[in-house]
Amino acid sequence: MSTPQNQAAWLNKADSPLEVRDAPLPTAGPGEIVVMNAAIAINPVDWHMQDHGIFVQQWPTILGCDVAGEVFEVGSGVDRFQKGDRVIGHSTPFPNGRPSDGAFALYTIVSADKASILPNHISFTDAVVVPFAVESAVCALSVKEPGPCMPGVFTPALGLPLPSLEGHISSIKKTLVVYGASASTGAMVTQLATAAGITVIAISGSHNFDLAKQCGAAQVFDHKDASLVEKIVAAVKNLNADFVGIFDAISIPETFERDLEILKALGGGHLAGTHPPPTENLPSNIHVGMIFAYSDITAPVYRDFVTGALQSGKLKCLPPPTMVGKGLEYIDEALKMCKAGVSATKLVVEL
Ligand SMILES: NC(=O)c1ccc[n+]([C@@H]2O[C@H](COP(=O)([O-])OP(=O)(O)OC[C@H]3O[C@@H](n4cnc5c(N)ncnc54)[C@H](OP(=O)(O)O)[C@@H]3O)[C@@H](O)[C@H]2O)c1
Repeated sequence: MSTPQNQAAWLNKADSPLEVRDAPLPTAGPGEIVVMNAAIAINPVDWHMQDHGIFVQQWPTILGCDVAGEVFEVGSGVDRFQKGDRVIGHSTPFPNGRPSDGAFALYTIVSADKASILPNHISFTDAVVVPFAVESAVCALSVKEPGPCMPGVFTPALGLPLPSLEGHISSIKKTLVVYGASASTGAMVTQLATAAGITVIAISGSHNFDLAKQCGAAQVFDHKDASLVEKIVAAVKNLNADFVGIFDAISIPETFERDLEILKALGGGHLAGTHPPPTENLPSNIHVGMIFAYSDITAPVYRDFVTGALQSGKLKCLPPPTMVGKGLEYIDEALKMCKAGVSATKLVVEL
């Protein structure tokens, strides 16, 4: 059989369109698999990397953090996967820095620790919304210390349990507020926190209340409501549980201002942002930090939780995908759409 030809949507330099052309066929190293991609998803970090070249260590490069497809090759030491398995995976062009680790290609290297078998009843295009959101959500919920890959990032110490396939652990009695539960990261934090037995009070646009509830939120409030802060504070107090803090998926000045008002009214807590929260003049009972979506702590979640939870419906492919097109040529357009902003969806390109 002839060797397949890989192709990729290459980024040659910052602030330029992607160029589709041949790429070396990657080889799986120890602990890695090569995935033949059937679908890839777009995340905001991709257009940030395209525009500004942030995190890029080698030019030209290949971007993209989410793949779904079939295992093409299995590296040494990997016993969870076989050639032909249907999988989803979080591909890591950063921090690894190798173009072969970018999703925007026909073949991508993925660490076996960041991949999960995909149940047969779920399509690649639905499931590809899951992996990078899982990485982000687990890092937001469960990481306690700054990761080794980005020294100096002040990781929020939410220190909550990992999600579990067993039923809700009602004895946990903890409450988390998720600001932006219709965002990809916010929806996944809501799902995984709920699966760890934590009660989520969510904030989203009123048109997305159903989505937040599907993700497991106990109550949802409209981010445009002028009384949002008072309503969230009352809802948290009514639960009479241990208030952990806020995961803010949006992390802009307007949301940070409200986060801090909520935390002050509730006697303090943690604020985990997707961008750096303000650190000036904070009361000592408020602890803030920015998540960094890459950690070894996620490995047991991909290994022990994702497949079974997708199988049982405990983990849903939310927010749902919006299909942009079929072929690597559509990725550039998808990046522009992502930069323009989406609501309660993740942009997906089929390959
Ligand atoms: N630090 C890290 O490691 C890390 C990891 C992942 C993502 N991120 C960053 O996290 C951010 C979110 O990423 P994502 O993929 O979750 O985003 P996304 O899915 O593209 O977010 C879209 C959602 O944002 C909501 N939104 C926009 N403006 C809002 C506002 N003013 N108030 C409340 N909600 C608002 C919209 O909600 P409605 O339509 O309901 O109004 C929409 O559903 C991005 O900036 C991304 O770069 C950082």
